[in-house]
Amino acid sequence: MRIHSDEFMPRELKRPAHSNSYESVAAAHELVSLARTHGTPLLVTSQSRISDNFYRLKGAFEKHYGDVAIKYAIKANSNPSIIKILAGMGAGMDASSPAEIDLAVMAGVGKDRIMFSPNYASRTELEYGLNAGVAINFDDIGQFESLSGSGVPGLVSFRLNPGFGKGEFPGITLSGPDSKFGIPESRILDAYALAKDCAAKRFGIHMMCGSNVRDPEYFGIITSKILETAARIKSELGIRMEFVDIGGGFGVPYRPGEKPIDIEKTAEMVAKEFKSKSAEYGLGKPQLMMEPGRYLIADTTVLLGTVNHVKRNEKIFVGTDIGMNLLLRPALYGAYHELYVVTRPDARLAITADVVGEVCENTDAIARDRRLPEVLAGDVIAVMNAGAYVYGMSSQYNGRPRPEEVLITQSGKQLVIRRRETSADLMSTARFTEQG
Ligand SMILES: Cc1ncc(COP(=O)(O)O)c(C=O)c1O
Repeated sequence: MRIHSDEFMPRELKRPAHSNSYESVAAAHELVSLARTHGTPLLVTSQSRISDNFYRLKGAFEKHYGDVAIKYAIKANSNPSIIKILAGMGAGMDASSPAEIDLAVMAGVGKDRIMFSPNYASRTELEYGLNAGVAINFDDIGQFESLSGSGVPGLVSFRLNPGFGKGEFPGITLSGPDSKFGIPESRILDAYALAKDCAAKRFGIHMMCGSNVRDPEYFGIITSKILETAARIKSELGIRMEFVDIGGGFGVPYRPGEKPIDIEKTAEMVAKEFKSKSAEYGLGKPQLMMEPGRYLIADTTVLLGTVNHVKRNEKIFVGTDIGMNLLLRPALYGAYHELYVVTRPDARLAITADVVGEVCENTDAIARDRRLPEVLAGDVIAVMNAGAYVYGMSSQYNGRPRPEEVLITQSGKQLVIRRRETSADLMSTARFTEQG
């Protein structure tokens, strides 16, 4: 089979008003065939889309600034093959836990390209990062202090909370007074002063203000803010930043009609602030670092599921094998994921239904009040933008094994990059003990 990502995961979702019309009938047939061959639920990822996304982002920023580092936020999708593909193109890694450091190392990423950015980490976990020899990005002064007696990382960074942030939902707005992340401006000098007193030698600074933002100007604003803070640190403590990390957060369109972020304009706005503020404040030429997750991976993957049962109460419920156990984002934040009934390409939209899963919770829906064609048990649905924060957020709740993941390589080969779990996997860590 040969299928290119643009056929099965369009960059812009343009569903006509009255039709289930999917990108192309051929693509719909290919997805149905994948579902029949591998079973559902199934995640299908396009390698060429990963590479398109990576090089588009890198190219846009490198046009304006010579020293750019893209660290992929592993939390978005931690499949080892995907990490390896990104590492192979030159991405560094942003790890939020010891296991994610291990994954990066296993994918062949050098420790000088790994950043450990945990939050509320235990001393044991921070020591793990220290011993791994990776840069540590501390979320609080106390996190740095908790390493006292163990040593100081070769490269120290602190996460700034600039007092404002922006995200698609409150749950993914990651800075501001209500956010649990980062160090406010009023305390950030104390953090760097302490690190300097403890003989830290090399420094960077970081922020991550929110996720799924498609407004280029906002990225210019946060860039300017972090450089102003770096300037204060330099003038008061004489600390020079090797890198300035503006975080991730670049958004993707989830709803029909939404436009992709203008990444060229975003890069231009960020680089303009970066260059002018660095020159104005005498900061030299720090590395421009970023740690995108969603932008690189969300639109590389389609989630396929099967309709099990349709219930017609006062409302219509389309029951599928995809629920909040696998696609949590709608239940967690009210997120929207476009979906198509790929067994009925071009059918008229005829019903309004909640698309639900098999989990015993009434929050278990992947779409509410969605216009769909008439569907029957056995129909296959394709959920768009399933590459980021889907498998990684999934659980085995209600005794549901996690799905298989298939990669469509650049030459069109289908590779199983994670096998489907079985009931035995669900029990593999448990032990039946004698009571008494
Ligand atoms: C510290 C940090 N960096 C990077 C990211 C990636 O964000 P995104 O997927 O929006 O690019 C996140 C996501 O929450 C994060 O917490």
